[in-house]
Amino acid sequence: MHPSAATGVSEHGLVRLDGLAVTYGAFHALHPLDLTIEHGDFLAILGPSGCGKTSLLRALGGFQRPSSGRIFIDGQDLTAVGPEKRPTNTVFQGYGLFPHLNVRQNIGYGLRIAGRDRADIAQRVEHIAGLVRMQSFLDRPIDKLSGGQRQRVALARALVMRPKVLLLDEPLAALDLKLRQTMQEELRRIHREIGGTFVFVTHDQAEALSLATRIAVMNEGHLVQIGSPEDIYQRPRSRFVATFLGEANVLEAARRSNRVTLDAGGSFESKGQDGDLSIAVRPELIRIAPPAGTADITLQGRLLERIYLGSHLRYALALSDGSQLVVAADAADQRNPHVPGQELTVGWTHDAQVLLDS
Ligand SMILES: Nc1ncnc2c1ncn2[C@@H]1O[C@H](COP(=O)(O)OP(=O)(O)OP(=O)(O)O)[C@@H](O)[C@H]1O
Ligand SMILES: [Mg+2]
Repeated sequence: MHPSAATGVSEHGLVRLDGLAVTYGAFHALHPLDLTIEHGDFLAILGPSGCGKTSLLRALGGFQRPSSGRIFIDGQDLTAVGPEKRPTNTVFQGYGLFPHLNVRQNIGYGLRIAGRDRADIAQRVEHIAGLVRMQSFLDRPIDKLSGGQRQRVALARALVMRPKVLLLDEPLAALDLKLRQTMQEELRRIHREIGGTFVFVTHDQAEALSLATRIAVMNEGHLVQIGSPEDIYQRPRSRFVATFLGEANVLEAARRSNRVTLDAGGSFESKGQDGDLSIAVRPELIRIAPPAGTADITLQGRLLERIYLGSHLRYALALSDGSQLVVAADAADQRNPHVPGQELTVGWTHDAQVLLDS
């Protein structure tokens, strides 16, 4: 059975969370959630600060006791099993490396504890160090490494244990933008090369979009949507997801007799119950002055400002209901840029908009 994009639940799957919840005293950090993680997934857990991402990851790794629910890995109920006995390894934010040990000793630590023989340890450490491109630093003390190098050692130390599931809590948050991009590429490559299952926590939506095979979006202790990056970006189900992942215009509207009319003007056919609703449209899918016949929904707006961003232009328009609309236009299409104060027609096609539940 294939996982359902709507719920993320399938019968099989490497990891299955069944009504998993975490409370701290009376506070519900994680409301009961169901989630299935498949073999080979690179799952991003994405959400704003305090939404419960770390709590979920800690419960998965065995560092946090769930207040209810069950955790299955490979069909085995591991809910009551401690972290060291789970087929998981966690890379914590801040890395948690042993400062008095060198790179080789840090990477080999878990294998030594597990009682592996020296030749085996040496060979596996060399192999993993190569994978994270740290083979020439094996004898360096930890305190003589850069942030990105420490990050690689932390990753290697977890990978060398060959966990069925690698758990990463904001692994790249402490790195500068350039290094973060490099490490994102490395993570993608390592995931591809070892074919493992990764779960990583981030609050960086661009990172989630570019790295993940699936994204689980969380808000206030709830899992609000799960799906492929394309799915989540193109078909957000709620205002929260539409605006958290990328930029979206959310427009208020009402449906009467199978016709939806936007408060700001413009209307389209849509079957369904009468009542208020919202629609989301991405800025890059809106055209200014669309040629006749190329837009299904059109409305008028007054140009407030135009911002030049190099690769594209950003327009902010005031709509008749007092709301604002943001349009991202390709710089190449804009040799005659519009000027503030101008009245403009904007439009988009049916498939560019999403009707939101909430
Ligand atoms: N040990 C604890 N005791 C009490 N409350 C806690 C504890 N750990 C976390 N919380 C609370 O639970 C909620 C979720 O915390 P969690 O660390 O899971 O969030 P997060 O999504 O990882 O946030 P961030 O992006 O800031 O790391 C927060 O409101 C936090 O204050
Ligand atoms: Mg956290």
